[in-house]
Amino acid sequence: MLVSAQEMLEKAVAGHYAIGAFNLNNLEWTKAVLKGAQESNAPVIVQVSEGAGKYMGGFKTIADLVKDLIESQGITVPVALHLDHGTYAGCQKCIKAGFSSIMFDGSSLPFEENEAKTRELVAACKALGMSIEAEVGAIGGEEDGVVGMGECADPDECKKIADLGVTMLAAGIGNIHGVYPEGWPGLRFDVLEAIKAKTGDMPLVLHGGSGIPDEMVQQAIRNGVAKINVNTECQIAFAKATRAYIEAGKDQKGKGFDPRKLLADGTQAITDMVKYKIEVFGSKDKA
Ligand code: 13P
Repeated sequence: MLVSAQEMLEKAVAGHYAIGAFNLNNLEWTKAVLKGAQESNAPVIVQVSEGAGKYMGGFKTIADLVKDLIESQGITVPVALHLDHGTYAGCQKCIKAGFSSIMFDGSSLPFEENEAKTRELVAACKALGMSIEAEVGAIGGEEDGVVGMGECADPDECKKIADLGVTMLAAGIGNIHGVYPEGWPGLRFDVLEAIKAKTGDMPLVLHGGSGIPDEMVQQAIRNGVAKINVNTECQIAFAKATRAYIEAGKDQKGKGFDPRKLLADGTQAITDMVKYKIEVFGSKDKA
Protein backbone atom coordinates (compact mmCIF):
# COMPACT_ATOMS: atom_id res chain seq x y z
CA MET A 1 0.00 0.00 0.00
CA LEU A 2 1.17 3.50 -0.77
CA VAL A 3 1.04 6.24 1.87
CA SER A 4 0.91 10.00 1.64
CA ALA A 5 4.25 11.64 2.47
CA GLN A 6 2.70 13.85 5.13
CA GLU A 7 3.28 11.78 8.25
CA MET A 8 6.83 10.73 7.36
CA LEU A 9 7.73 14.38 6.67
CA GLU A 10 6.19 15.66 9.91
CA LYS A 11 8.19 13.05 11.83
CA ALA A 12 11.34 14.03 9.90
CA VAL A 13 10.94 17.71 10.82
CA ALA A 14 10.36 16.81 14.48
CA GLY A 15 13.27 14.34 14.52
CA HIS A 16 15.71 16.55 12.54
CA TYR A 17 16.37 14.16 9.71
CA ALA A 18 15.32 14.00 6.04
CA ILE A 19 13.45 11.52 3.87
CA GLY A 20 15.25 10.37 0.72
CA ALA A 21 13.23 10.88 -2.48
CA PHE A 22 14.71 8.76 -5.26
CA ASN A 23 13.79 9.08 -8.93
CA LEU A 24 12.80 5.91 -10.78
CA ASN A 25 13.75 4.99 -14.34
CA ASN A 26 12.73 1.37 -14.88
CA LEU A 27 11.76 -1.89 -13.20
CA GLU A 28 15.26 -2.63 -11.89
CA TRP A 29 15.51 0.89 -10.44
CA THR A 30 12.20 0.53 -8.65
CA LYS A 31 13.16 -2.80 -7.10
CA ALA A 32 16.60 -1.44 -6.14
CA VAL A 33 15.27 1.66 -4.37
CA LEU A 34 12.60 -0.26 -2.46
CA LYS A 35 15.21 -2.84 -1.43
CA GLY A 36 17.58 -0.14 -0.16
CA ALA A 37 14.85 1.50 1.90
CA GLN A 38 13.70 -1.83 3.35
CA GLU A 39 17.25 -2.91 4.27
CA SER A 40 17.72 0.48 5.97
CA ASN A 41 14.33 0.28 7.70
CA ALA A 42 13.66 3.80 6.40
CA PRO A 43 10.53 5.51 5.09
CA VAL A 44 11.03 6.46 1.45
CA ILE A 45 9.60 8.55 -1.36
CA VAL A 46 9.87 7.09 -4.86
CA GLN A 47 9.24 9.61 -7.59
CA VAL A 48 9.03 9.97 -11.35
CA SER A 49 9.39 12.94 -13.64
CA GLU A 50 6.87 13.26 -16.46
CA GLY A 51 9.60 12.11 -18.88
CA ALA A 52 10.26 8.97 -16.83
CA GLY A 53 6.51 8.50 -16.65
CA LYS A 54 6.35 8.29 -20.44
CA TYR A 55 9.45 6.09 -20.62
CA MET A 56 8.07 3.59 -18.11
CA GLY A 57 4.74 3.22 -19.92
CA GLY A 58 2.53 5.77 -18.20
CA PHE A 59 1.59 6.79 -14.66
CA LYS A 60 -0.93 3.99 -14.17
CA THR A 61 1.71 1.38 -15.08
CA ILE A 62 4.07 2.96 -12.52
CA ALA A 63 1.45 3.10 -9.76
CA ASP A 64 0.57 -0.55 -10.36
CA LEU A 65 4.25 -1.54 -10.53
CA VAL A 66 5.16 0.14 -7.25
CA LYS A 67 2.11 -1.20 -5.42
CA ASP A 68 2.69 -4.74 -6.73
CA LEU A 69 6.40 -4.67 -5.86
CA ILE A 70 5.64 -3.50 -2.32
CA GLU A 71 3.58 -6.64 -1.96
CA SER A 72 5.73 -9.15 -3.85
CA GLN A 73 9.04 -7.96 -2.34
CA GLY A 74 7.72 -7.88 1.22
CA ILE A 75 8.28 -4.14 1.64
CA THR A 76 7.01 -3.04 5.06
CA VAL A 77 8.55 0.47 5.33
CA PRO A 78 6.26 3.41 4.43
CA VAL A 79 6.45 4.22 0.69
CA ALA A 80 5.01 7.34 -0.96
CA LEU A 81 4.75 7.49 -4.76
CA HIS A 82 5.31 11.06 -5.89
CA LEU A 83 5.24 13.00 -9.18
CA ASP A 84 8.42 15.08 -9.56
CA HIS A 85 8.14 18.56 -11.19
CA GLY A 86 4.60 18.06 -12.44
CA THR A 87 2.74 20.32 -14.81
CA TYR A 88 -0.89 21.04 -13.97
CA ALA A 89 -2.04 18.37 -16.48
CA GLY A 90 0.55 15.87 -15.21
CA CYS A 91 -0.68 16.37 -11.65
CA GLN A 92 -4.25 15.61 -12.71
CA LYS A 93 -3.09 12.42 -14.44
CA CYS A 94 -1.18 11.19 -11.38
CA ILE A 95 -4.12 11.92 -9.07
CA LYS A 96 -6.21 9.72 -11.35
CA ALA A 97 -3.54 7.03 -11.71
CA GLY A 98 -3.38 6.37 -7.96
CA PHE A 99 -0.19 8.19 -6.89
CA SER A 100 -0.12 9.12 -3.20
CA SER A 101 1.73 12.42 -3.67
CA ILE A 102 2.37 15.06 -6.33
CA MET A 103 4.59 18.05 -6.96
CA PHE A 104 3.10 20.94 -8.84
CA ASP A 105 5.98 22.98 -10.24
CA GLY A 106 4.58 26.37 -11.06
CA SER A 107 7.89 28.11 -10.44
CA SER A 108 8.19 29.25 -14.07
CA LEU A 109 4.70 30.79 -14.06
CA PRO A 110 3.86 34.30 -12.92
CA PHE A 111 3.60 34.10 -9.10
CA GLU A 112 -0.18 34.72 -9.01
CA GLU A 113 -0.78 31.85 -11.43
CA ASN A 114 1.50 29.51 -9.45
CA GLU A 115 -0.48 30.49 -6.34
CA ALA A 116 -3.92 29.94 -7.94
CA LYS A 117 -3.07 26.55 -9.48
CA THR A 118 -1.32 25.36 -6.31
CA ARG A 119 -4.40 26.35 -4.27
CA GLU A 120 -6.65 24.33 -6.57
CA LEU A 121 -4.42 21.24 -6.43
CA VAL A 122 -4.07 21.49 -2.63
CA ALA A 123 -7.86 21.16 -2.37
CA ALA A 124 -7.89 18.14 -4.72
CA CYS A 125 -5.09 16.41 -2.78
CA LYS A 126 -6.60 17.13 0.63
CA ALA A 127 -9.87 15.52 -0.47
CA LEU A 128 -8.00 12.34 -1.42
CA GLY A 129 -5.55 12.22 1.50
CA MET A 130 -2.60 12.87 -0.82
CA SER A 131 0.46 15.00 -0.10
CA ILE A 132 1.49 17.89 -2.36
CA GLU A 133 4.77 19.74 -2.96
CA ALA A 134 4.94 23.22 -4.47
CA GLU A 135 7.93 25.18 -5.75
CA VAL A 136 9.10 28.75 -5.43
CA GLY A 137 12.27 30.06 -7.09
CA ALA A 138 13.75 28.14 -10.00
CA ILE A 139 16.18 25.31 -9.35
CA GLY A 140 19.18 25.45 -11.66
CA GLY A 141 20.24 22.71 -14.02
CA GLU A 142 21.75 21.79 -17.32
CA GLU A 143 20.02 22.68 -20.52
CA ASP A 144 21.78 22.22 -23.87
CA GLY A 145 25.11 21.89 -22.12
CA VAL A 146 24.75 25.17 -20.20
CA VAL A 147 24.34 24.95 -16.43
CA GLY A 148 21.90 27.56 -15.15
CA MET A 149 22.45 28.71 -11.56
CA GLY A 150 18.74 28.94 -10.78
CA GLU A 151 17.11 31.69 -8.85
CA CYS A 152 16.85 31.88 -5.07
CA ALA A 153 13.34 31.83 -3.68
CA ASP A 154 11.78 34.93 -2.14
CA PRO A 155 10.98 34.09 1.53
CA ASP A 156 7.73 36.12 1.40
CA GLU A 157 6.53 34.17 -1.65
CA CYS A 158 7.48 30.95 0.17
CA LYS A 159 5.28 31.97 3.08
CA LYS A 160 2.35 32.73 0.75
CA ILE A 161 2.59 29.31 -0.91
CA ALA A 162 3.17 27.51 2.42
CA ASP A 163 0.02 29.15 3.79
CA LEU A 164 -2.04 27.53 1.01
CA GLY A 165 -1.69 24.27 2.94
CA VAL A 166 0.90 22.43 0.86
CA THR A 167 2.57 19.45 2.56
CA MET A 168 6.12 20.42 1.57
CA LEU A 169 7.84 23.27 -0.21
CA ALA A 170 10.73 23.24 -2.68
CA ALA A 171 12.63 26.50 -2.58
CA GLY A 172 15.60 27.40 -4.74
CA ILE A 173 18.65 28.06 -2.51
CA GLY A 174 21.43 27.83 -5.09
CA ASN A 175 20.87 24.10 -5.67
CA ILE A 176 21.16 22.64 -9.16
CA HIS A 177 19.91 19.44 -10.80
CA GLY A 178 22.62 17.20 -12.22
CA VAL A 179 26.38 17.48 -11.69
CA TYR A 180 27.48 20.66 -9.90
CA PRO A 181 29.83 22.81 -11.99
CA GLU A 182 33.37 23.47 -10.82
CA GLY A 183 33.48 26.50 -8.57
CA TRP A 184 29.85 26.15 -7.44
CA PRO A 185 29.60 28.49 -4.45
CA GLY A 186 27.48 26.11 -2.31
CA LEU A 187 23.99 26.32 -0.83
CA ARG A 188 22.73 29.74 0.29
CA PHE A 189 22.15 29.09 3.98
CA ASP A 190 21.22 32.75 4.53
CA VAL A 191 18.28 32.29 2.13
CA LEU A 192 17.34 28.93 3.70
CA GLU A 193 17.31 30.48 7.19
CA ALA A 194 15.12 33.38 6.00
CA ILE A 195 12.67 30.90 4.41
CA LYS A 196 12.61 28.74 7.54
CA ALA A 197 11.96 31.83 9.69
CA LYS A 198 8.88 32.62 7.58
CA THR A 199 7.53 29.10 7.05
CA GLY A 200 8.01 27.55 10.52
CA ASP A 201 7.59 23.78 10.56
CA MET A 202 6.85 23.45 6.83
CA PRO A 203 9.02 20.56 5.53
CA LEU A 204 11.41 22.07 2.98
CA VAL A 205 12.60 20.13 -0.06
CA LEU A 206 16.15 20.12 -1.40
CA HIS A 207 16.25 19.31 -5.11
CA GLY A 208 19.51 18.48 -6.85
CA GLY A 209 20.65 16.36 -3.90
CA SER A 210 23.40 14.68 -5.93
CA GLY A 211 26.93 15.96 -5.47
CA ILE A 212 26.36 18.26 -2.49
CA PRO A 213 28.98 17.49 0.20
CA ASP A 214 27.47 15.41 3.04
CA GLU A 215 28.22 18.02 5.73
CA MET A 216 26.43 20.69 3.67
CA VAL A 217 23.42 18.39 3.27
CA GLN A 218 23.36 17.80 7.03
CA GLN A 219 23.54 21.54 7.69
CA ALA A 220 20.54 22.00 5.38
CA ILE A 221 18.64 19.33 7.36
CA ARG A 222 19.39 21.23 10.59
CA ASN A 223 17.83 24.26 8.90
CA GLY A 224 14.50 22.63 8.03
CA VAL A 225 15.12 20.48 4.93
CA ALA A 226 13.08 17.28 5.35
CA LYS A 227 12.97 15.79 1.82
CA ILE A 228 16.02 15.40 -0.39
CA ASN A 229 15.80 14.44 -4.06
CA VAL A 230 18.48 12.19 -5.52
CA ASN A 231 18.64 11.11 -9.13
CA THR A 232 21.99 11.76 -10.82
CA GLU A 233 24.14 9.97 -8.24
CA CYS A 234 22.08 6.78 -8.64
CA GLN A 235 22.37 7.08 -12.42
CA ILE A 236 26.16 7.51 -12.22
CA ALA A 237 26.50 4.55 -9.82
CA PHE A 238 24.36 2.38 -12.10
CA ALA A 239 26.25 3.33 -15.27
CA LYS A 240 29.67 2.89 -13.64
CA ALA A 241 28.91 -0.57 -12.24
CA THR A 242 27.32 -1.74 -15.50
CA ARG A 243 30.31 -0.51 -17.50
CA ALA A 244 32.74 -2.16 -15.07
CA TYR A 245 30.88 -5.45 -15.44
CA ILE A 246 31.35 -5.35 -19.20
CA GLU A 247 34.91 -4.04 -19.12
CA ALA A 248 35.94 -6.81 -16.71
CA GLY A 249 34.74 -9.30 -19.32
CA LYS A 250 32.10 -10.64 -16.93
CA ASP A 251 29.72 -10.56 -19.89
CA GLN A 252 31.93 -13.33 -21.34
CA LYS A 253 33.59 -10.79 -23.63
CA GLY A 254 30.36 -9.77 -25.26
CA LYS A 255 29.00 -13.29 -25.53
CA GLY A 256 26.89 -13.06 -22.38
CA PHE A 257 23.54 -11.54 -23.21
CA ASP A 258 21.29 -12.34 -20.23
CA PRO A 259 19.93 -8.91 -19.22
CA ARG A 260 19.40 -10.11 -15.64
CA LYS A 261 23.14 -10.72 -15.33
CA LEU A 262 24.20 -7.65 -17.32
CA LEU A 263 22.20 -5.31 -15.08
CA ALA A 264 22.74 -7.04 -11.74
CA ASP A 265 25.82 -5.10 -10.57
CA GLY A 266 24.35 -1.76 -11.69
CA THR A 267 21.11 -2.52 -9.89
CA GLN A 268 22.98 -3.42 -6.70
CA ALA A 269 24.92 -0.13 -7.02
CA ILE A 270 21.60 1.76 -6.85
CA THR A 271 20.60 -0.10 -3.69
CA ASP A 272 24.01 0.69 -2.16
CA MET A 273 23.67 4.40 -3.07
CA VAL A 274 20.16 4.55 -1.58
CA LYS A 275 21.43 3.00 1.65
CA TYR A 276 24.35 5.44 1.80
CA LYS A 277 22.10 8.47 1.28
CA ILE A 278 19.64 7.25 3.92
CA GLU A 279 22.54 7.11 6.43
CA VAL A 280 23.61 10.65 5.52
CA PHE A 281 20.03 11.95 5.76
CA GLY A 282 19.56 10.30 9.19
CA SER A 283 16.39 8.41 8.23
CA LYS A 284 17.83 4.91 8.87
CA ASP A 285 15.65 2.93 11.29
CA LYS A 286 12.94 5.62 11.27
CA ALA A 287 10.29 3.40 9.63
P1 13P B 1 19.84 15.30 -8.95
O1 13P B 1 19.70 14.61 -10.26
O2 13P B 1 20.80 16.42 -9.00
O3 13P B 1 20.08 14.35 -7.83
O4 13P B 1 18.41 16.00 -8.66
C1 13P B 1 17.27 15.22 -8.51
C2 13P B 1 16.08 16.08 -8.36
O5 13P B 1 16.10 17.10 -7.72
C3 13P B 1 14.85 15.63 -9.00
O6 13P B 1 13.83 16.60 -8.93
